[in-house]
Amino acid sequence: MSEFITNKDNLPPEITDLLVEARKVSENAYNNYSGFFVGAAVRTSSGKVYTGTNMENASFGVSICAEPGAILSANANGDFNIEAIAIVGGFKDGKDQQPATPCGRCRQFIYEASQVSGKNIAVFCSNLTFSKTLVTSIEELLPFAFVLNKD
Ligand code: THU
Repeated sequence: MSEFITNKDNLPPEITDLLVEARKVSENAYNNYSGFFVGAAVRTSSGKVYTGTNMENASFGVSICAEPGAILSANANGDFNIEAIAIVGGFKDGKDQQPATPCGRCRQFIYEASQVSGKNIAVFCSNLTFSKTLVTSIEELLPFAFVLNKD
């Protein structure tokens, strides 16, 4: 079941740890066009963490979200067994913001990773201060996901 946690002291350490990794790399977001900082961190069954940031482009539609960056990094290291992903995003305007949740395309991307790992990937979404965190899973975020059924 999805849950919002509005007191960061109530976050379990394994969630906070992954959120912290995501927030760290969000500093490196290439976001010249939107100014929106996003970091993503995936944890695999090996306990390793792989990260990614959003990378925008002068041709706006070419921009890439943070989530595929993190998943591609795990993949490039041959570490396919993704169990959890943390996504942290926001503007640095000091205002309290909603958690950054994965866009539709990213949900489909995370879903594919869950097919590979055979696990319903846990998804932790937060803002830059962790004042509001959504704890959910890819199956809750993308019910009836598209799969290539060759039968
Ligand atoms: N963005 C992500 O990195 N992940 C998402 O799931 C939603 C949006 C990025 C794309 C763009 O660089 C910026 O946030 C504003 O849309």
